[in-house]
Amino acid sequence: RCAEARAIVLSNMPVNGEYRLLTLDAPAEVLDCAPGQFFQLLCPVPEGEHPFLRRPMSIYGYDAHAEQLQFLYKIAGAGTRGLATLRAGDTLNVLGPLGQGFTMPDAWQNLMLVARGVGLATLAPLARMAQQQGRSLTAICSARSPELAMSVDLFRSYGAEVIVVHDEDGSSEVPALEALIEARIAAGSVDAFYTCGSRRLLTMLQRLGQKHGIPGEIAMEQQMACGLGMCQACVRPFREGNEVVHRRVCREGPVFPISEAIA
Ligand code: FES
Repeated sequence: RCAEARAIVLSNMPVNGEYRLLTLDAPAEVLDCAPGQFFQLLCPVPEGEHPFLRRPMSIYGYDAHAEQLQFLYKIAGAGTRGLATLRAGDTLNVLGPLGQGFTMPDAWQNLMLVARGVGLATLAPLARMAQQQGRSLTAICSARSPELAMSVDLFRSYGAEVIVVHDEDGSSEVPALEALIEARIAAGSVDAFYTCGSRRLLTMLQRLGQKHGIPGEIAMEQQMACGLGMCQACVRPFREGNEVVHRRVCREGPVFPISEAIA
């Protein structure tokens, strides 16, 4: 159940050379969230820009008790440039939580999370859920350089074993990363994968999943307009058995089974 709310900015700080963390005071009615869901943010319009649509952003952290909501973002366009102008005490109109989040079936006790860059932010709330449900979690954090590996401390604070791999161009993803994951699979410590965004990671996890019979889920990154299932701007093809079907990422996703996603 989503709602529109007026949130108040508590802080909006750089966390490294590329990413900023926005912390909002938000009403409890929008904080019944699941990891992997997102909000549509009515970002301030920077000077000289034309008004634009709400921007979708995956949830980095939420705490209904403390009434806090967090987003981790990189300045990449007018929307995020507008977000970066927010100061403590400013207000931000948020609409959410939206979409279908990650699931954690009982059979998935040993979880492996694999992501790169800002994709790690989308998986951060999943690490908290894993800890709350007593699951074991290995987080493989890939980045261009060690200081850009997001959320490493956060994953550790949720009890995850963290492995950081870094390279300039994503080349560590295959095959070195694949060998690393296969060693874990051989040791019997992977029941399911979680990932976000990267097509290269998706292809690799599909290959490994198929070879070893390991299921998993991916949060898809996709351009959106309404975010509410009405405009069809986010439709993508998916595999369903031998068929290709089309689904709205904002409504039926953004989380889908890894085996059904098409890279
Ligand atoms: Fe409009 Fe998904 S963004 S239907």
